[in-house]
Amino acid sequence: MPARVTTIAFEGAEVRRVEAEVVLTKGHVAFQVVGLGDKAVAESKERVRGAFAGIGLGIPNQRIVANLSPADLPKEGTHYDLPIMLALMVVMGLIPQDALDGYVCVGEMKLDGQIAAIAGALPAAIAANGWGLGLICPHDNGPEAMWGGNDDVLAPKSVIALINHFKGVAVLERPVRGELASPAHPVDLREVKGQEVPKRALEVAAAGGHNLLFVGPPGSGKSMLAQRLPGILPPMNSQELLETSQVWSMAGLIAKGELTRERPFRAPHHSASMAALTGGGMRAKPGEVSLAHNGVLFLDELPEFSPQALDALRQPLETNEVVVARANHHVKYPARVQLVAAMNP
Ligand SMILES: Nc1ncnc2c1ncn2[C@@H]1O[C@H](COP(=O)(O)OP(=O)(O)OP(=O)(O)O)[C@@H](O)[C@H]1O
Ligand SMILES: [Mg+2]
Repeated sequence: MPARVTTIAFEGAEVRRVEAEVVLTKGHVAFQVVGLGDKAVAESKERVRGAFAGIGLGIPNQRIVANLSPADLPKEGTHYDLPIMLALMVVMGLIPQDALDGYVCVGEMKLDGQIAAIAGALPAAIAANGWGLGLICPHDNGPEAMWGGNDDVLAPKSVIALINHFKGVAVLERPVRGELASPAHPVDLREVKGQEVPKRALEVAAAGGHNLLFVGPPGSGKSMLAQRLPGILPPMNSQELLETSQVWSMAGLIAKGELTRERPFRAPHHSASMAALTGGGMRAKPGEVSLAHNGVLFLDELPEFSPQALDALRQPLETNEVVVARANHHVKYPARVQLVAAMNP
């Protein structure tokens, strides 16, 4: 019987359920991870091997096969270390299988047996809650995971702490949910003198969620006006807060589990590449247009952006989502933004 630990894979902004299965089989001594993983997943076995050595345990001198199922779903990231390690511990008889049955498990292993933080803890927690499961995640991700709606979160600092918890030796404390930071606006619209018409335009755009283009000579206050838009936008509602925070979590931008209702304001430099704007590249992380989801994307000096980058924004502005093409599939990220641009005539 293989040991099974539930974990997740990200397909763009969507979370898919994945089972990490581990068996010991006959054959020459080896440790293999299969299931369409990227380089980080392939390296997982070395981190797991190192972590076992780090806590003073050897792994069985047999052929070990770890399968990430469904095997046709591409898997990226380092969060498979902990589920693979725990499944191997079940096979070795160190942890009972039923202790892990009610949990989704994510975490990156360090070579001393500590568990390192991962990106995407919030969507993982929300998905686990949807499946009626608790979450085992790294200690540093605990405050963020508590936003997922299920209080059954185990956030150990190390695998030893987790084993002690299951044995009842030292029960883990429940993490404290991160704070809801109140909006901090370093700049204020009242600092703009005169300019009644552009100010009115800014207010109308803020109220209606319209896109806006400022055209004017250098020094006329275009950048200044645009930067003061977040200060007059209404706060995000709870639904929007979770949507936007999930994208930020995937990009690893949530510190200490602190969320905010303040709408995002992203102002990428005009030298930004197409991948930086719309997402994609090596690990298909969300781009600026998705990080600005439910908020403002500000393109200062609009004509300086490459035509290719601007063309790539056309589709997300029309459909409110970004489709990033990967080698043999597509992934989607949400991108409902208000576009504000500025240029000289
Ligand atoms: N209406 C205004 N009230 C107060 N300060 C202003 C006003 N207009 C311009 N300024 C001052 O001028 C500076 C330059 O404005 P800003 O950078 O917004 O101009 P711009 O239109 O973006 O110019 P550029 O085309 O060169 O980017 C501001 O930082 C601000 O100090
Ligand atoms: Mg400017």
